[in-house]
Amino acid sequence: MLKKAVILTGAGISAESGLRTFRDAGGLWEGHNVYDVATPEAWQRNPVLVQQFYNERRKSVREAAPNDAHRALVKLEQGYDVTIITQNIDDLHERAGSSTIVHLHGIITKSQSNNNPNLTYDIEGWELKMGDLCDQGSQLRPHVVWFGEAVPMIEKAAEICYTADIFIVIGTSLQVYPAAGLIDLVPKNALKFIVDLNETSVPGDVERIIEPASLGVPKLVARLLNTGA
Ligand code: APR
Repeated sequence: MLKKAVILTGAGISAESGLRTFRDAGGLWEGHNVYDVATPEAWQRNPVLVQQFYNERRKSVREAAPNDAHRALVKLEQGYDVTIITQNIDDLHERAGSSTIVHLHGIITKSQSNNNPNLTYDIEGWELKMGDLCDQGSQLRPHVVWFGEAVPMIEKAAEICYTADIFIVIGTSLQVYPAAGLIDLVPKNALKFIVDLNETSVPGDVERIIEPASLGVPKLVARLLNTGA
């Protein structure tokens, strides 16, 4: 039986693929007020602006490619039962070839019916416009969890964390809940690591690897595959 490796990723794992993070200098929220583009109120107030914001991001995602950190997590599957829990709405884990991915905040390559969030569709290309309707005739919106909305996948993610033998946090400031609380659900005897460009506040029993993800993750994966920790 393979040991379970649970990976929590944030925007930092995709930074070296050219996708901006949220809270770093020059990050996504630098250019936009969250409340203008990523809340249900923003969608009510100015849906065209919200669609434009996500169309721009979808275009960048389409133009980006997975990096060595995404690819290393695929390699980790050679020795572990790997589940990725990501806060990212890009599809770089999918495109790298990871087998099991839980998107806590949705995925930008899909749309959802405004009246029925369970009705989702793949978006061809990069544009979603007002007037694009679901099968039931209601407006399509990005399949993304906005601030103030429930995180439907959090229970599933919590169950996964309860069973972790190894827990690796990559490229997240751990400032947004409930995602940031997942580390507290991991068994005390699990091995915990964080790979981040900067020092982030984590519990004492977490091994810090302060490096860019594309360097730190492949090295950690090689170590774990060699030692079978
Ligand atoms: N390698 C590793 N870590 C990096 C790199 C890199 N090349 N570049 C940046 N980082 C780290 C930063 O140090 C920071 O800790 O990635 C983290 C990015 O943090 P945020 O910008 O806050 O992104 P994230 O933690 O994913 O945000 C969580 O907040 O805005 C919401 O829904 C949005 O999913 C997002 C959530």
